[in-house]
Parts: sequence; C-alpha cells; structure tokens
Amino acid sequence: MTDFDLVPAPETTAVEIADAYGHLIGGAWTSPSGNRMSSINPANEEVLTEFSVAGADEVSAAVGAAREAFKSWSVLPGRERGKFLFAIARRIQERARELAILETMDGGKPIKESRDVDIPEAAKHFFYYAGWADKLRFAFPGREVGAVGVAGQIIPWNFPLLMAAWKVAPALAAGNTVVLKPAETTSLTALRLGEIAQEVGLPPGVLNIVTGAGETGAALVDHPDVDKIAFTGSTVVGKAIAKSVAGTGKRLTLELGGKSPHIIFADAAIDEAVEGIVQGIFFNQGHVCCAGSRLFVEESILEVITEKLHRRIQTIRVGDPLDKNTDLGAINSKEQWEIIQGFLKTGAEEGATLHSPSKGEVPKRGYWVPPCFFTGVEPAHTIAREEIFGPVLSVMTFRTPSEAIERANNTPYGLAAGVWTDKGAKALEMAHQLKAGVVWLNSYNRLDAASPFGGYKESGFGREGGRQGILPYLKVDG
Ligand code: NAI
Ligand code: MG
Repeated sequence: MTDFDLVPAPETTAVEIADAYGHLIGGAWTSPSGNRMSSINPANEEVLTEFSVAGADEVSAAVGAAREAFKSWSVLPGRERGKFLFAIARRIQERARELAILETMDGGKPIKESRDVDIPEAAKHFFYYAGWADKLRFAFPGREVGAVGVAGQIIPWNFPLLMAAWKVAPALAAGNTVVLKPAETTSLTALRLGEIAQEVGLPPGVLNIVTGAGETGAALVDHPDVDKIAFTGSTVVGKAIAKSVAGTGKRLTLELGGKSPHIIFADAAIDEAVEGIVQGIFFNQGHVCCAGSRLFVEESILEVITEKLHRRIQTIRVGDPLDKNTDLGAINSKEQWEIIQGFLKTGAEEGATLHSPSKGEVPKRGYWVPPCFFTGVEPAHTIAREEIFGPVLSVMTFRTPSEAIERANNTPYGLAAGVWTDKGAKALEMAHQLKAGVVWLNSYNRLDAASPFGGYKESGFGREGGRQGILPYLKVDG
C-alpha cells in the first residue's frame, strides 16, 4: 500500500455566525437571554456562538404560539401546506453549502458527510412529505383524517438538521404545529431551519424552536398543552420521557439507541463486506444510532477479516472535519469523548484486544478517537453489550447461522442489522429471524425518506420515514 499525504483541501469558513441566538417563538426571534450556553467547535475547542437556554416560561410561550397557529394550519388545504414544505426543501438546497459548513463546525462531522448526506437527505425529507400533504385522504379511503395538534420534538446532536427534518416534515405535512428542541451542542442548523421557515413565509407559530439542554426538553415533555412527543436520543432519557408521558393521553414515539450487529458469512464478497462494515461503524465517528457496532464473523474467515480491517483502518483519514479529504472527524463533545474513552478502557480491562492505526496521530486540540476495533470479545463483555456511540467495533465469531442469529439477537436493542452473504435464501432467512427494525443485505446505513426506520425493544417504538412516519401525526376516524 502506498503511503502518501494529500495536500489540505479545506472548505471555506466564510459563513455568518452571530455571537448569540434567541428562540423562534410565534414567528419572531427573541433576544438572546441572560441564561446561555456555549456551543463549541469540537475540532478546535473554540466557542462558536452561544445559545439561549429556554426556561418553562419560554417553552410555554412556544407551545402557546403553536396552539394558536394550529387553528389555521390544521385546516389549510393539504396542497397549500405542501407548497410550504416544497419551498423549505428548495431553500435547504439553495443554502446547502452554508448548512453543511455550519453542521461540520458545530458538530465535528466531516464536510463530505454533511455535504453529501445530512443536508441533501434533510431536503429529501421535506420534498417527500410535501408530496403526502395533499394525499392523506387517499391513504385512508373513506375515513376522516386530521392532525393531532401541537407536537413537541426533541432531537440529538448526531444528525442535527437531518433529525429536525425527519421530525418536522411529517408533522407539518399532516397539519400539526411544532415546538422543536435541538440538542445543546448542535443547535445552529436547526436555528437556520427557523430562518428558512421565515424566508418561505411559513405562518408564524407553525414551527417554533427553543434551545436549551435536558431541562428545556423536560419542560416541553411535561407541558400539558402538548399533544404529541417525538424523541430521538439516549435510552435512559427515552425511558424517563415514557414515564412522564404515561397516563397523560399524549402520543409518544421514541427512537433510542442500538447495538446493531453485522453478520458476515465465509461465502460473502469479502472486500465489499469489509468496506460496508468500515462505513457502518466509522461513518460519522460512530455517532449513529444504527451503527454496526458488533461484528459476527464466521469462524473460518476470522483471520482474513481481522487482517483486512486492520489494514483498512490505517488508511482512514482522521482530522480537520472541514477538510474535504477527511473521513473521520471530531467527536461531538468532551462528554461523548469521555464516554468513548471509558469504553476503550473497560474493553481492554475485560480482556479484549484493541486494534488501532499504527500511526494514530490526531490534532492536538479538539476531541478525537481514531478508528479502532476489538477482537477476543466475549458476549458478556461491556463493549459487546452497551452502546458506545463512537468509532469502535467489537468483533466476535460464530459457527452456524442459528448461532449467529442467537448471538445477534442477544441484546436489549433492535434497531438495525447487516447480513453479508452470497446466498439469497440464506440472506432472506437471516433477515426474517433478526429482531431489528431494518436489515440491510450486502449493504449498510442505506436510508431513504420513503422507507420507514425505527426499532424494537429498547431501541424504541414508532417509525420515521415513509407512509408509516406520518401516522403518529394523524388522527384517523371511522
Ligand atoms: P440525551 O438523550 O441526553 O440527549 C438527546 C436530546 O434529549 C437532547 O436534545 C437533550 O437536550 C434532550 N434531553 C436530555 N435530557 C432530557 C430530559 N430529561 N427530557 C427531555 N429531553 C432531554 O443524549 P446525550 O446525553 O447527548 O448522549 C448520551 C448517549 O445517548 C450517547 O452516548 C449515545 O449512546 C446515546 N445517544 C443516542 C442517540 C440516537 O440517535 N439514538 C443520539 C444521541 C445520543
Ligand atoms: Mg444527556
């Protein structure tokens, strides 16, 4: 393999970022409040801007604005609502470069991912659900279809604009109004979405955005005038939300963590499989709820797979997320970096063997974890059971398909799985028996606005994307 360096290819940072931001409530921006939190660029630890922390009063004002706007938005003809969603999608496309740069600066993900995945996919979700807005009654022939009401939506930091799009687009298409609470480390692009909503003339109060951390989220969950809560994030917080919503009559969908398995058979196209596995865990620093973090290898090919993985992680470029050649960017926050370091330590202490790039150089400032994997992992090891949410893969083996199924399903999660084999019948049989919301065959992390995504067991419930993704936002009578 040739050892060469690429010259730096940095994306511009010429984007406007204010010193501080307020909330979007009832179509107007509030002045930045006294109570603020800093947003750090995790690639250099510099403060990018400050977000206001919404207290119960501001959350209440946002819910009130959404309630008021619901009166007219919910009865607007679907084709009219659809036009607004189309306009938002177009505007996301027009402002794509700016949004991608902001996503990368605020969250640490490589520019090639925010440019090629996050932002175009966010636009696609608005395009896709724009198409549903005037067709809802055809999806349920002979039945009355209406919106649910005010939706409180709480999203994480791993795909900031994309998660906002996943939640906001179906809600608005169905005639609901929204209070969105982005994650505390990555609120910039959600706030830009608020600007876009204003640019396209979305009626005031239809989309409200309040920033803040867990307490702001909890205030939104607990607000009595919210009809539906949609949450994506950690299983711990998801369970707490499920408890506080229980018995209130609020609707709830949860998209939580994962410990998704790959199963690779000896008959698979090995190089393609290794590349898919590499993409499936190192993509976006492993900050992916459906990251393929457990790899089950048919015993006879363990050696070859280990060697190929080892070779491949040497060539993954870690560093400046704004560089167009970077594969693996910065870990989103110091907190997440510490979580990952904890798992790396536990993995070694429990007896697994760590494989990491032999050079392993990372920039001096910022939060970095080079791509790595563990071999000699036992099912009882912490790194085989718990979500790491970092670029860390746990490699295990199996002898028979039924053993592979048993071990892959032996987890409290059930979000996604990958199967790598040349045999169609085997692939279908595995897909049938794997307890996961999505099973990818000879591919991984393939998402589409038209196809539903979501989990089983502790990975949550409800689906996002596709026709299924709009159901939680609809009341269907008769
Ligand atoms: P988190 O669940 O605390 O944060 C997600 C969102 O929930 C953020 O907007 C946060 O402000 C909000 N939130 C926090 N506490 C809340 C509460 N009590 N009520 C309402 N909203 C609340 O996740 P965190 O702490 O950022 O990450 C911890 C771990 O969670 C990660 O290491 C990872 O394993 C997992 N995670 C999974 C995600 C997924 O996509 N499934 C996304 C982010 C984290
Ligand atoms: Mg948290």
